[in-house]
Amino acid sequence: MKCIDEIPASELKGKRVLVRNDFNLPLDAKGNVADVFRLKQGWKTIQYLSERGARVISISHIGREGDSIEPVAREMKKLGRVFFIPDIAGRVAQEAVATMKDGDIALLENVRRDAREKENEESFARELASLADIYVDDAFAAAHRTHASIAGVPKFLPSYAGFLMRDEVTNIDAARSPEHPSLAILGGAKFETKAPLIRLLLEKYDHLFITGALANDVFKARGLPVGRSLISKELPGEDILSNPHFLAPADVTVERPDGQVHVKKPEEVGAEDKIVDIGPATVAMLSTHIANAKFILWAGPTGMYENGYIHYTQGIAELIAKSDAKKVIGGGDTIAAIEATGVPQEKLGFLSTGGGAMLEYLLKGTLPGVEALQ
Ligand code: 3PG
Repeated sequence: MKCIDEIPASELKGKRVLVRNDFNLPLDAKGNVADVFRLKQGWKTIQYLSERGARVISISHIGREGDSIEPVAREMKKLGRVFFIPDIAGRVAQEAVATMKDGDIALLENVRRDAREKENEESFARELASLADIYVDDAFAAAHRTHASIAGVPKFLPSYAGFLMRDEVTNIDAARSPEHPSLAILGGAKFETKAPLIRLLLEKYDHLFITGALANDVFKARGLPVGRSLISKELPGEDILSNPHFLAPADVTVERPDGQVHVKKPEEVGAEDKIVDIGPATVAMLSTHIANAKFILWAGPTGMYENGYIHYTQGIAELIAKSDAKKVIGGGDTIAAIEATGVPQEKLGFLSTGGGAMLEYLLKGTLPGVEALQ
């Protein structure tokens, strides 16, 4: 995978560079951008290209197919001189791109507004490619999608990874071969989709701690009461439950139907209880593992942080912030949960922009978007 810093600066000046970003940013009720993490992480590549005189054409998907990405353009304008083109690869886009000057930055409309994007149709990939001289993929968070702007366009243009794509791949590769002692913390739900990753992490890591709704599945599989807790369609088998590298919560926070909240041992959970987080004894147990680890991978909050159960995720984040280990954090809602804890991001090591893409890369060591750049 070649990266953009391998292109001599003289070859960037005046060139039209199509950059596939993942600026699928969350919007608030008023339609404004609610979180700029992915934009901040992706800006470095755009700025680098623009400063070298390239004409930067950024393209991304956002939300549902019909949504406009214009709110993201408003955020980008706070970072540099950016203009929004309300078209993808049609006449309006072609004419706007033709008027771009060296160093200009444009954002095209939501690429998924064209149904051919998700179908990875060659005609669409060719149309996108015709807008540019060079293609750069910086959309790690979308690299698990075999879509035209990701897997199709590189067939028709000289193609490179952006800085974010390179950083993601380097750091998640490191998480696939961790230094020891190593600790992985995996949360989330749907055991059936996580089972292969759990088995892989048990092989590669000295300890794997299962949390979030996945821990409920562990309790249920062990024959413990789980009350009204969220349970997956499939449950972990003995190969996981009795694996010596496997760790489960020592206590849990439960919510009763009347809203009362208690901390209990897993075997004390009642029929009315819903498990919503881990408890203090679990944080204490993890503190030793976190302090000893040279490598920490963390994917998934400990509890239902979106319902306000952020306290123990915050406790874990604080412990990880103090550790000198190499750290890789991401996947699912992890970054949003960490932002909610207020723990300074710069103390937490590498924060991945990838949700599903990070988990899939961890499992497979590659993704369609990465393959397309090889
Ligand atoms: C994400 O938010 O995980 C990426 O932007 C991919 O979005 P998608 O699940 O809609 O393909």
